[in-house]
Amino acid sequence: MSEKIAVCPGSFDPITYGHMNIIKRGFAIFDRIIVAVAFNISKKTTFTVEERVSIIQDLFHDEARVTVDAFDGLLVDYVVRKKAVAVLRGIRTVTDYENEMQMALTNKMLNPQIESVLMMTDGAYSHISSSNIKEIVKLGGNAESMVPKSVQTLLRRKFAMK
Ligand code: PNS
Repeated sequence: MSEKIAVCPGSFDPITYGHMNIIKRGFAIFDRIIVAVAFNISKKTTFTVEERVSIIQDLFHDEARVTVDAFDGLLVDYVVRKKAVAVLRGIRTVTDYENEMQMALTNKMLNPQIESVLMMTDGAYSHISSSNIKEIVKLGGNAESMVPKSVQTLLRRKFAMK
């Protein structure tokens, strides 16, 4: 049987414990997960795409089933290029549900072959957002319960540079 590959796309600016939880739990369904960092033209990010890829690679260095990559263009086209069968995303809130539903239906219209798997974030992580983490760190707070220590250190460095 051929392996089942999912693409877990996102801005990951930066990756949080919430994202990491979804990726790890994705192995209950998929054999391999490609974490795909978006070159998001409409979003101003704190970390460059290269930095975001490298951060995620470091965090998953001992998980051979995870590949980290960057992509631009349509997500569905990237999924086809990677021979993946599904898009894996997490849902924290009702607002997420509405956005993810819209994105899943749009992707389905663009390519009916590709499924979207929307996984509920663990309750412990449902309040976490990359934007809140950045605000906390920028204001001198501690976001260690939401993001790995190494990532918080990189954020502190980034904000100190500005
Ligand atoms: O972490 P984010 O910012 O919620 O991720 C959004 C992302 C990158 C998954 C989404 O914007 C995306 O898929 N972008 C690629 C462009 C695309 O395919 N757009 C049409 C689908 S709605």
